Amino acid sequence: MHFQWYPGHMTKAKRMMQENIKLIDLVIELVDARIPMSSRNPDIDELGKNKARLILLNKADLAEEKWNDAWMDYFKSKGYLCVKVNSKKGGGVKSINAVIQEACKEKMERDRKRGILNRPVRAMVVGIPNVGKSTFINALAGKAAAKTGNKPGVTKGKQWIRLNKNVELLDTPGILWPKFEDQLVGLKLAFIGSIKDEILNTEELAAEFIKFVQNAYPGTLAEKYSIEEMEDPYESLTKIAESRHCLVRGNELDTEKAAVLLLDDFRNGRIGRLTIEYPETAE
Ligand code: G4P
Repeated sequence: MHFQWYPGHMTKAKRMMQENIKLIDLVIELVDARIPMSSRNPDIDELGKNKARLILLNKADLAEEKWNDAWMDYFKSKGYLCVKVNSKKGGGVKSINAVIQEACKEKMERDRKRGILNRPVRAMVVGIPNVGKSTFINALAGKAAAKTGNKPGVTKGKQWIRLNKNVELLDTPGILWPKFEDQLVGLKLAFIGSIKDEILNTEELAAEFIKFVQNAYPGTLAEKYSIEEMEDPYESLTKIAESRHCLVRGNELDTEKAAVLLLDDFRNGRIGRLTIEYPETAE
């Protein structure tokens, strides 16, 4: 799913968030483990102030494990609870209930002191497009009890999924806008396929990606595509086209096709687990 973010989209997303966030106690923020900073919404701290917070490094299966751990330490050092998950395969999802409980401890304690008993904590999943919100909700709800919405006496429109006796989850995620003003952030979002890039064409995007991988993970492309890694990323792209027989009209090399293939391989984890940004450069 590709989104183009015009001011209208952003205004609508913002309005929806502001409406829904009033209903909830806990913000479960999904980020992409390969780019945990660039896949965060710029205004999430403001939107989520006074709420319990939990950050999930989703698609952890596509990122390098040592960096997943480093990012978890980073977010924990900033005072967030943070868990790595693979929503597609369900990895890490089981442990989420306990962490949600932990995130809401203070709120439940406050309620108890005020004599409010049995009021479930309400949570919402939020994140930029394509980060895995729906997949995560399905993975979590698959293990949960029946939905509580659409029963007589329950407000129509909003459905809550009862995760356990203490926690309910809003069944529709909050869609947040990405940090699209920053060029480098835009590039990383384009690498992972989260936003349609209007500035670079596919070959330019692939060349930028090759530049990054050859520098951060030297030898990886050489091994994957049986090529020599060239200093000029366009030459490496040509070599990939050769190696993978990407041809137009029978004999001319099709670097556009090679670019699509390369980006697709990366997005689906076929080049291996690659992390694109690191906590030490996060500030
Ligand atoms: P969204 O609601 O935030 O927009 O994201 P959505 O759940 O639609 O997920 C976007 C894509 O990311 C989906 O792939 C989904 O399968 C994939 N995905 C979600 N979580 C994970 C994860 O933890 N690991 C991996 N590897 N992938 C994940 P798709 O290409 O749109 O569909 P499909 O490949 O599932 O058919």
